[in-house]
Amino acid sequence: MGKLRVGIAGLGTVGGGLLKLFADPAARLNEKLELVAVSARNRSRDRGVDIGRYRWFDDPVELAAQPDVDVVVELIGGSDGPAKRTVETALQRGAHVVSANKALIAVHGVALAELSEAKGGKLLFEAAVGGGVPMVKALKESVAGCCASAVAGILNGTCNYILTEMESSGRSFEDVLADAQRLGYAEADPIMDVGGFDAAHKLTILSAIAFGARPDFEHVRIEGIERVSLIDIRMAGKLGFRIKLLAKGASTENGVEMHVRPALLAFDHPLANIGGSLNALVVDAEPAGQLTFIGRGAGAGPTAASVAADLIDLAEGRAGFAFGRPLAQLTSAPRATPVERGRYYLRLMVADRPGVVAAISDRLAHESISIESFLQMPAPEGPAVPIVLTTQTCPREAVEAAVAAMQALDVVVEPPYVMPVEVSGARWGRG
Ligand code: HSE
Repeated sequence: MGKLRVGIAGLGTVGGGLLKLFADPAARLNEKLELVAVSARNRSRDRGVDIGRYRWFDDPVELAAQPDVDVVVELIGGSDGPAKRTVETALQRGAHVVSANKALIAVHGVALAELSEAKGGKLLFEAAVGGGVPMVKALKESVAGCCASAVAGILNGTCNYILTEMESSGRSFEDVLADAQRLGYAEADPIMDVGGFDAAHKLTILSAIAFGARPDFEHVRIEGIERVSLIDIRMAGKLGFRIKLLAKGASTENGVEMHVRPALLAFDHPLANIGGSLNALVVDAEPAGQLTFIGRGAGAGPTAASVAADLIDLAEGRAGFAFGRPLAQLTSAPRATPVERGRYYLRLMVADRPGVVAAISDRLAHESISIESFLQMPAPEGPAVPIVLTTQTCPREAVEAAVAAMQALDVVVEPPYVMPVEVSGARWGRG
């Protein structure tokens, strides 16, 4: 059999990394695949590799329509627009697609998988989640013999880099974000990163595979890291926690529950020491037990390596269903509003006056919330001082009621900030 002929749509960071792999005669990729066509917005940009030997297309959809391109690699990005049209065009004619596009798969995964099953072309997306870390493949293949009950991950390198750097250098959020953009971790629009959407796309994909459910991005509850301040990072540290943007999914009696939000992780939590731009995933799966995957979640080399792994799977006939099982076998369970219980961190900015602490504890006591730890630090710079506390396990609803009551106090000068506290592995809502 001849080599599989590949067309790449999108020659940005990841596309550039893949070009380099194709240009390396020693790369295993070149044994069974051949790059024949490329498409990008800018033909003349220096990518450090001669692209003159490949057929050029200004329009990625035209590349996807070429009958002699067996596999279309979509590295354009974005859930709609040219990326979606490119992938649909390829699948429609029965060609295979390898994509690094988490937004596209999270939002349109079901429709694309339907097209793939109907027309026979495979749809693979290892590079969409966790950069070079084989999370998709691990869940589809290695964990296939288990029953996964929960996944928890650090899935956005930009947020992880920002939070790690803020903690170690005391620099501001904006400063560190600019670094992450320079280093090539961040999305074109950084709100996708810091707003939690990128992690939510990835969590949607992982949860679908882990729990055998249809991808359901609409139901991820998403909170970004914009409100995490240096005060939170320092105070959490004093209480024995590190703040991370945690993406957590669980299979519950209400269906699949998914959450992306900043959380306090005890220093001995398996994800607490994943620093910088690293990504990590913890999976609770019986009978295997808890599994952890760690590695570089972004960047040209790691992400291109994952694309290459999918291409090799295709060439060697190992590619299965998009979400690990046929669509007809994926559940889409009805859901009820989940009742959340856990431990919580509260940060309040208060006027430095007698009786403030008593008033705050009173609001908590009224909701039967017991305080686990409490910390006030002097803040010589302004009229308000930070008070932080952590609660014992209680319903989230009770915390929200207490916070609403605190907000009505004239000594509380800005809306209190609440984050969940995680003390153990991936299990959902464990206090
Ligand atoms: N912006 C993403 C991140 C890149 O920061 O993790 C990889 O998807």
